[in-house]
Amino acid sequence: MSQEQAFWLPFTANRAFWKSPRVIRAAHGHHYITEDGRELLDGFSGLWTSGLGHCHPKIVEAVREQVGTLDYGMGFQVTNDKAIALANEVTRFAPPGMNKVFFTNSGSEAADTALKIALAYHRARGEGQRTRLIGRERGYHGVNFGGMSVGGIPANRKVFSAALLPGVDHIRHTHSLPDMAFSRGQPTWGAHLADDLERLAALHDGSNIAAVIVEPVAGSTGILVPPVGYLQRLRGICDKYGILLIFDEVITAFGRIGAPFAATRFDVMPDIITTAKGLTNGVIPMGAVIVRDGIHQALMDGPDKVVELFHGYTYSGHPVAAAAGLATMQVYREEDAFARALALEPAFEEAIHALSGEPHVIDIRNFGLMGGIELAPRDGAPGMRGFDVFLKCFERGLVIRNGGDILQFSPFLDSSVDELAQIFDTVRTALREVD
Ligand SMILES: Cc1ncc(COP(=O)(O)O)c(C=O)c1O
Repeated sequence: MSQEQAFWLPFTANRAFWKSPRVIRAAHGHHYITEDGRELLDGFSGLWTSGLGHCHPKIVEAVREQVGTLDYGMGFQVTNDKAIALANEVTRFAPPGMNKVFFTNSGSEAADTALKIALAYHRARGEGQRTRLIGRERGYHGVNFGGMSVGGIPANRKVFSAALLPGVDHIRHTHSLPDMAFSRGQPTWGAHLADDLERLAALHDGSNIAAVIVEPVAGSTGILVPPVGYLQRLRGICDKYGILLIFDEVITAFGRIGAPFAATRFDVMPDIITTAKGLTNGVIPMGAVIVRDGIHQALMDGPDKVVELFHGYTYSGHPVAAAAGLATMQVYREEDAFARALALEPAFEEAIHALSGEPHVIDIRNFGLMGGIELAPRDGAPGMRGFDVFLKCFERGLVIRNGGDILQFSPFLDSSVDELAQIFDTVRTALREVD
């Protein structure tokens, strides 16, 4: 299949890809099968999505059953039984007082939905002047216009710069190699970086700011772990000015950091949480926005036959996605998946940090089952060394991800210590091979 095909791949170097395509045709458990019959160890759990493993029999069965029972159902002014049940299930995992769930189809849609809910909430309470949205440098909140605008990854913004939302600012990111390189878990330096929000509150007046959105552990930018005390400080500043705090937990929810949510793990309660990925174990696309009761309540104010929030997607609460989500929640419980992930964290930390001292490695970071190895960029060719390591690993039967020169790892919630060894031995070999 070397000649170019019709398919335009997302976030991919398409021309290089079609010269040597990497095509998966099946998966089971922790492995992929390629089109040419090779078995690959998945070191990234899909794309942070599939913590319970691929083709989990209980989720597969639930989807099979649902698609033959109710394939789709009208989602506006009518709904389906599975969407109702899943929303209830999700709130059983959610922090206390967060009992309302709005479904989307992706993390990007969840981010934009959360921003819109924040604006609608303030307006409903007579604070319509609170329109300013604050993101963070290096943040990733998907690719729709809202998420892209509050996002802070330069390459994702550059081409669309003139079309980004107005009224958006960014607090500084939390990364500083001289102060935190090779930290294990949370860096001890950097809580004060949250005070950057004070700067924006002073500049715009806090009463004009609607919400701040951050990933509790930043993923796509290359695993930036919040310094000890940082999220608490951010919460405090939000409280001081009446700003809503949104945690984008598209990656961190559902076990990735050994707890149902990062909010739970860090014991910092946001006002709104966005999720996707682990919500259905990646089996059917779905996202969700979970809100504090008071936010929902503020919007339930007008005449009761009038639509309260003019927002939604044809597939919000899709019954097949919801059935996949319900089965996923059940398996999380039955397999005690979050506790298993937490128990695996020390072994993961040991395994990843064992690569310090390997060629090109300038930092290693980890939290939960999220890990990053930062490589020194090649002169004049940033990102290429990371990409070459990704390719070498793929050739050797391992799928990882590179965000530029930062190698990223997201093992399954029930990975074995042997699998972790296989992942990092393969990466070590690749690092020694690339120039
Ligand atoms: C924190 C975060 N938010 C939002 C998104 C976007 O999700 P999606 O690709 O499902 O639109 C991602 C995707 O990786 C993410 O990591």
